[in-house]
Amino acid sequence: MKDAAPQTIYLSDYTPYGFVVEEVHLTFRLSPTATRVLSRIRFSPNPEGPDRDFFLHGEDLALISASIDGTPVQPEITPQGLRCDVPDGPFVWEAEVEISPETNTALEGLYMSNGMYCTQCEAEGFRKITYYPDRPDVMSVFTVRIEGPHPVLLSNGNPGASGDGWAEWHDPWPKPAYLFALVAGDLVNHPGQFTTMSGKKVELNIWVRPGDEGKCAFGMEALKKSMRWDEEVYGREYDLDIFNIVAVDDFNMGAMENKGLNIFNSSAVLASPETSTDANFERIEAIIAHEYFHNWTGNRITCRDWFQLCLKEGLTVYRDSQFTTDMRGAAVKRINDVSDLRNRQFPEDQGPLSHPVRPESFQEINNFYTATVYEKGAEVIGMLKRLVGDEAYAKAVALYFDRHDGQACTIEDWLQVFEDTTGRDLSQFKRWYSQSGTPRLRVSEHYEDGTYSLQFSQTTPPTPGQNDKQPQVLPIEVGLLSPNGDEVVPTTLLEMTKAEQRFEFTGLSSKPVASILRGFSAPVVLERDSSREERAFLLAHDTDPFCRWEAGNALARDGLLAMITDGAAPDTAWLDGLETLLRDSALDPDFRASMLDLPGQSELAQALHERGVTPDPQAIYDALERLKMFRAERWADLLPQLAKETRVTEPYAPDADQVGKRALGNGVLHMLTRLDGGAAAQKQFDSADNMTLQLAALAALIWAGEADAALRAFHDRWQHDRLVMDKWFGLQVALARPDRAAEQAKALTEHPKFDWKNPNRFRAVFGSLAANHAGFHYEGGAGYDLLADWLIRLDAKNPQTTARMCAAFQAWRRYDDGRQARMRNALQRIAGTPALSRDTTEMVTRILG
Ligand code: TRP
Ligand code: ZN
Repeated sequence: MKDAAPQTIYLSDYTPYGFVVEEVHLTFRLSPTATRVLSRIRFSPNPEGPDRDFFLHGEDLALISASIDGTPVQPEITPQGLRCDVPDGPFVWEAEVEISPETNTALEGLYMSNGMYCTQCEAEGFRKITYYPDRPDVMSVFTVRIEGPHPVLLSNGNPGASGDGWAEWHDPWPKPAYLFALVAGDLVNHPGQFTTMSGKKVELNIWVRPGDEGKCAFGMEALKKSMRWDEEVYGREYDLDIFNIVAVDDFNMGAMENKGLNIFNSSAVLASPETSTDANFERIEAIIAHEYFHNWTGNRITCRDWFQLCLKEGLTVYRDSQFTTDMRGAAVKRINDVSDLRNRQFPEDQGPLSHPVRPESFQEINNFYTATVYEKGAEVIGMLKRLVGDEAYAKAVALYFDRHDGQACTIEDWLQVFEDTTGRDLSQFKRWYSQSGTPRLRVSEHYEDGTYSLQFSQTTPPTPGQNDKQPQVLPIEVGLLSPNGDEVVPTTLLEMTKAEQRFEFTGLSSKPVASILRGFSAPVVLERDSSREERAFLLAHDTDPFCRWEAGNALARDGLLAMITDGAAPDTAWLDGLETLLRDSALDPDFRASMLDLPGQSELAQALHERGVTPDPQAIYDALERLKMFRAERWADLLPQLAKETRVTEPYAPDADQVGKRALGNGVLHMLTRLDGGAAAQKQFDSADNMTLQLAALAALIWAGEADAALRAFHDRWQHDRLVMDKWFGLQVALARPDRAAEQAKALTEHPKFDWKNPNRFRAVFGSLAANHAGFHYEGGAGYDLLADWLIRLDAKNPQTTARMCAAFQAWRRYDDGRQARMRNALQRIAGTPALSRDTTEMVTRILG
């Protein structure tokens, strides 16, 4: 267990390590509760690191022996590591430690999952494997020998010699310890091959437990596409003879980019049409790409320290979003990314957990693998690219790879290559990395004598630790439409740098309608007093698909807010506009399906809060239900025709064309269910030959209250498939009626298949409870209490997953006094738990504020 004493680490305190690691040799003698790790490490003094204090990180290690240059030493040992006197020049450190992978439930360091050994070292897990300077700026070449009775023994780099019960690996590329990986087990592989742009053949493998080999083909194709794409778009070639991916069932996050040996949560790699939804396929393709792309952005060029995490994560998320755009189409990818940003990053940025894309202090780095670092970090790259242009972006990135290959870098290094290629001064732009909070951008418009002007003002509300905000550089893309719908000014980039700024368009023959923040060109909240007519016009005519979607989304949101606060009737003008789109079969079905999306409950709660209204979760839920029913009735005669149009007759494929049809078809099914009580859903459930159709039908039946038989049938059919059973657990909680959600979650924790130590299963139940807004916040607070009980229980086993899930409480201050008191209570109960982990302590302390 980690030491709970809060110690804060500061970016400003960075100093280089006093030693260079020349070479690392590791030997693992595997045994479930007594694995021996032997290390032989060559150190020399670091001319750039003046501090000669020889400290090695190490946690939960039993030191068996240690020597320097062959002479036994007795280091001074603390809970965080060890210290030792060392010679003035180069020396060889040797140590043997014992660890217990089987009892390692934190899933960090070397642990066991279903009988297989695996590792997770990012961010600071290597120190639970052996004594080492566990910091990303210490890079070295690793040679690894694994001894164990397992048929498959894997580590980073290229395979070396092997024999019965042992295997050696050598990774020629210097890397930080967080990229170390080891896997041992009874695994089977799905093989593949890739020829790189310079003609080198690379052996590819996806390793899984026997029985899962039929779920690897899609991942393998995604990997090959990613490798090709990185060559074609970024000129990056793979650099080892082999690339291995391993699927593990117990994993805290999605996946990990260990050099040459990516380790994946099985939910992020295993796929088959019968067991995975279209959304699963898309996510898997994106995560495989993401981890693969880290080979250059993260591994070949890594981070100097963990404050620079966005250097690899923001850039790699940006790269995987470009990849998905190329594979599946720009419009829907952008819409999905913006929804995701608003649902996950905005609440973080506007609540007690708000932090800059590059934080300046932390207690537990694991708590900073956040939507802000990842998703806002990617938005920042997107803005930079917009500002400098595609060509300069390509040049700057090429310079980055050239200049920094093999180094551990900072955001300053990253921005410098852009300054050097463009001659631009990016000091103001850099505020995107240091200033937290979501900027609000207000705009007002004016037209006179052929001149149209837009007056913008920006402010960023105070966030924890940052009261005064400076203006940021905002790239604002704008297009102007004439009243008949023609584009009179095509997309133009306005560069806002001041708190207030005015932009003019001259020579217009009539007052235009402006399409502002096209493509969501900056991650801000746009405040615009736009009439319903103007929005309806943009919904009908905007040539920018994002702004077209956004116009519909804003109409939906404002209509819902009026329903919630004034008991208004649904906005029929908006529905009629939407209907025109739905009927337009020239429009991509996927885009039409996104147009059916309504703002989420939490998003509406935030919108009310911003307007000074205390959100009532039940009222939000009721308004959404009323609107969905109203819409279904109003479009009753359109639905059968849409259902027909979206039917897929070809064999299942998770490609953009079919995915769009199924998305729209399933949207239609949910509307039909409101009219027919579940008859169409039952039919779809019974006949579905793929999970996308089956799960949507099950969801519709749950909504209709007609799912008992279907839930039983689903359980019986899929009870031996962990990933499908996660869906079974999750859906029942996510879709439970508000008054039943906590009860439902509790009942499922008593199900024999509820394995609370498995993060996927824990999240299936409790992530879904937190996501069921009206259910989690249902009066009385049973949801809060249940979640707190289980977080307290999980913390003793798995601090990382516990701490992440505390974010369910982050928006507690926007609710009424009663709910606030109950949430504060739950948080204080967690905070007061004896021996609470450092991870969870930091999270609840920050949330309580
Ligand atoms: N670097 C991983 C990624 O973004 C993230 C990750 C995987 C991680 N496992 C982790 C981060 C455990 C912290 C702890 O691809
Ligand atoms: Zn990543």
